[in-house]
Amino acid sequence: MEFDDVIKNRRSIRGFSDQVLPKELLKEIVALATRAPSSMNTQPWYFHAVSGKALDEIRKGNTERNLAGIPASREIRIHGAYDGVHRERQKKIAAQLFKAMNIDWGDKEKRQDWVLRGFRQFDAPVSVVVTFDQSLDDNDIAMFDCGAVVNALVNAAWSRGVGAVINGQGIMQSPVVRKHAAIPDDQIIMSCVAMGYPLEDFPANDVVSTRRPVEEVVRFVDFYE
Ligand SMILES: Cc1cc2nc3c(=O)[nH]c(=O)nc-3n(C[C@H](O)[C@H](O)[C@H](O)COP(=O)(O)O)c2cc1C
Repeated sequence: MEFDDVIKNRRSIRGFSDQVLPKELLKEIVALATRAPSSMNTQPWYFHAVSGKALDEIRKGNTERNLAGIPASREIRIHGAYDGVHRERQKKIAAQLFKAMNIDWGDKEKRQDWVLRGFRQFDAPVSVVVTFDQSLDDNDIAMFDCGAVVNALVNAAWSRGVGAVINGQGIMQSPVVRKHAAIPDDQIIMSCVAMGYPLEDFPANDVVSTRRPVEEVVRFVDFYE
């Protein structure tokens, strides 16, 4: 696949077939992804590819805690609810996904069902939990490095016909993930990525999210014409 095709056509996949993701293919994808740049080549990341019973336990624990109303418990700082333009963009992608999945804004039951799918890592055959060295906890650059490698991971997956969605919901109950994925004590859970082969006829998989125009995101300073 051409680089441009990967970048332009990749989209988040939220419906997965039962087809097993071979370990060797996952290794190949991780090998590609870890060519990502990092600050001073520190490569602070780790990938914990979880499937089978361990992933089932995570799905179960996440669902139970969510239904019980237990507040989110992450190992990274978060900003809280988005507002302003960020909230508008959040609402836009949600509207696109809900429309594709035939979910009305007012339909609380279907919306809750969609949220729970996210907590279940969209029932993907594999969840890759991304962590980084705890010794770098006070270093925002480590977060930057994790972002770079996770972007590379989803693109590498796409280039091999594998679907993925970065899944912040999946680690909102990080103690559950830490326990069942046996995350080492000296690592911090950053995010997880649900991965597998895309399910055909799952309308959310066809949703193409919008992007801000180039003119809006870039400015040129003292630049030649
Ligand atoms: C840090 C991060 C966390 C995310 N968490 C979720 C999530 O929990 N659930 C979800 O459906 N999508 C999640 N996404 C996917 C974004 O919604 C998606 O990347 C964005 O809407 C752009 O769509 P695209 O990936 O199809 O281009 C996450 C993306 C990032 C970068």
